Amino acid sequence: ADPDPLQDFCVADLSASEAVNGFPCKPVSNTTADDFFFDGLSKQGNTSNVFGAMVTTANVLAFPGLNTLGIAMNRVDFAPGGLNPPHSHPRASESGVVIEGKLLVGFVTTRNVYYSKVLSAGQMFVIPRGLVHFQLNVGEGKALAFTAFNSHLPGSVVLPLNLFTSTPLLPDQVLTKAFQVDEDVINGIRSKFGV
Ligand code: GLV
Ligand code: MN
Repeated sequence: ADPDPLQDFCVADLSASEAVNGFPCKPVSNTTADDFFFDGLSKQGNTSNVFGAMVTTANVLAFPGLNTLGIAMNRVDFAPGGLNPPHSHPRASESGVVIEGKLLVGFVTTRNVYYSKVLSAGQMFVIPRGLVHFQLNVGEGKALAFTAFNSHLPGSVVLPLNLFTSTPLLPDQVLTKAFQVDEDVINGIRSKFGV
């Protein structure tokens, strides 16, 4: 989904004071082999959180060598029963492969049609750009997946956090009307997220 690159590479200078639509390149003379390798996905993510899952990102912000190349990856770790909650990526389609465990992978289309399947090690999925999706660990033990994107910065709109923990908060009236519930339900949800 990103524009095509205009040169071999453009390792991001994340500290540059100006950026238009992306990051400027650091000088080629300062570029080293290390700019093209990244070990940030080698360690298991900490799944001790309300969702029991952790997404570790290898996007341009974490791995500046990806800048302008239109690709990125994540590592997603799941505790037993863990959920990577419903979210969408505004700038990329996603493909993924299960490495360990058993995951229920699902997405919902713009016409509110739900597609899902339970996958185990070696099996793949694809999430069309922008659609709301999740992965739920339905196996006995922990689970692990790697995902790949056609953007160096796919972005992630995590629906429960977006709607219930924004800064500043959305007006209660919006949420009570949208979900047809009372304010105490909204406050109950927020308190689970520490808001
Ligand atoms: C999984 O959905 C991910 O965004 O890595
Ligand atoms: Mn995703």
